[in-house]
Amino acid sequence: MAAASTAAAVTPARSIFRKVAVVIILLMALDMIRYHFKRMKMKARARWFSLPFLGDFPTIVADPTKFWDNLIALAPNGISAFKILTQAAIFVTNPKFAKQIFDDQENFTLFVHPNSPKLLGEDNLVYMSREDLVRWRRAMVPNLKKAEVLHAAAYTAVNSCSNMLRKIAARSPAEQAENDVRYDIRLMNAHLSLKVFLGGYLQKGEAEWIADDLIVVTNGFIAAPVDLPFTDLGKGKAASQRIMKVLHRISDECFRRMKNNEEPLCVLDRITDSCIKAGIKGYGRTPADIAHAGLDFCFAAQDATTSALCWCIHSMEKHPEVADKIREELDRVLDKDVDFTEALPRAYNANKLPYLRAAAINQLQYRPPVPMVPHIARHDTELGDHKIEKGTIAFASVMGSKANIEGADRFEPDPDNMLDPAFKKVLCFGGGPHMCPGRFYASNTVALFMATLVHGYDVDRIRKPGGEDIIYLPTLYPRDSLYVMKSRAEAA
Ligand code: HEM
Repeated sequence: MAAASTAAAVTPARSIFRKVAVVIILLMALDMIRYHFKRMKMKARARWFSLPFLGDFPTIVADPTKFWDNLIALAPNGISAFKILTQAAIFVTNPKFAKQIFDDQENFTLFVHPNSPKLLGEDNLVYMSREDLVRWRRAMVPNLKKAEVLHAAAYTAVNSCSNMLRKIAARSPAEQAENDVRYDIRLMNAHLSLKVFLGGYLQKGEAEWIADDLIVVTNGFIAAPVDLPFTDLGKGKAASQRIMKVLHRISDECFRRMKNNEEPLCVLDRITDSCIKAGIKGYGRTPADIAHAGLDFCFAAQDATTSALCWCIHSMEKHPEVADKIREELDRVLDKDVDFTEALPRAYNANKLPYLRAAAINQLQYRPPVPMVPHIARHDTELGDHKIEKGTIAFASVMGSKANIEGADRFEPDPDNMLDPAFKKVLCFGGGPHMCPGRFYASNTVALFMATLVHGYDVDRIRKPGGEDIIYLPTLYPRDSLYVMKSRAEAA
């Protein structure tokens, strides 16, 4: 009797468990079959196995460098397929297709990181399809190309780079060998961009904590999408709100000054001025909108530029023949009667350093800081013979496609024969309507940093096994940036 009642109690539970297990197995099979057919339709090579429901997500998180390298190897000049959770994705290494993804806004739109709206707000430049944001972008972006903006920024950049390099070189060689200069560069770059974008509006001490908070926001981007006060995303959100508070104060002041036709002091002033002059009616007409633009620009100016500057030191040490040519040009052109921090930006702004400019552009193409830009297919569409279904995530690989552009994989600057001086072919700043508006400012910063470094210092790399491997953070860096720098003036 007792045995019979136990059996009666277990049987329904077992049967429910079995049914649930069967449903799960069927759903898993369905997920795999769906992906398989999508992949076949796209004519894309794929990894031998992707997990149901999770796809390749665990493999990407475990070792991103290996994962992306494997995808490049799978289709070195074409399209490979993989799966992020249940969503099909493609990785595009063919430069023609990659460019098509950037250019064709009708069929592909930027795939916004799920943490982005929480960290940067809903009204971000990347949501290009909204007509009012398109107009606003058009009014703002030319400010970042203006000669007077770039020329003033060059003086600030040379001063900031000089101060940082002097501080690093003042450390003992043993201390230098232990300190990854990536952290010095990141901090210097944060202060530099804040000076250029927000100028004298920052009050005492604000630049210091905002520079720290910008790092907290960046960490929020690469964090799991769990928004709690103690998670990296929650902390990033709080940091972004703190920065926004200051930006609101500053943009109120910019509006007041620009309406009074006062002299612009920084990039935010110029952006405010052009929005007022363009008579923007929708988004972009209030100080709050300008404060948002300030956050977009300050944030976007951080990580990729830091990566580019780390690669500069790497290249200058690895290619002494290029460093020597830059030195030779500086020695020939710079006015010796004025201080270097004055003479360098003056000569650079007057276009008197063509080899240096070519070296910076070549550097960015040869070691692109941003490895890929994810988009999403808005409709069923095609890339050559490949049929791409609506909803597929399409990663335009900058690293993969540059390997297929003749000359982009070499560091051989030549001002008379530049591969792609305006960044139209090699996609290190993206392409199409979203193409990076900070590219001129960024490439100038790279050039001026290179010149300050090779003019003032001899650099030796501390070589460690694997130290030069490329890692994804998520912009690209050498695994370590450990150097000993010696002042050339002191050695002379
Ligand atoms: C070496 C440094 C930099 C690199 C390699 C870089 C690269 C990129 C790339 C690849 C994109 C995506 C473009 C696309 O989707 O077509 C982008 C977008 C953007 N970048 Fe940069 N960037 C750098 C520095 C900067 C700086 C200094 C600023 C600040 C002014 C900036 C501001 C932006 C903004 C606001 C966007 C979004 C544009 C939009 O979606 O309309 N970037 N950048």
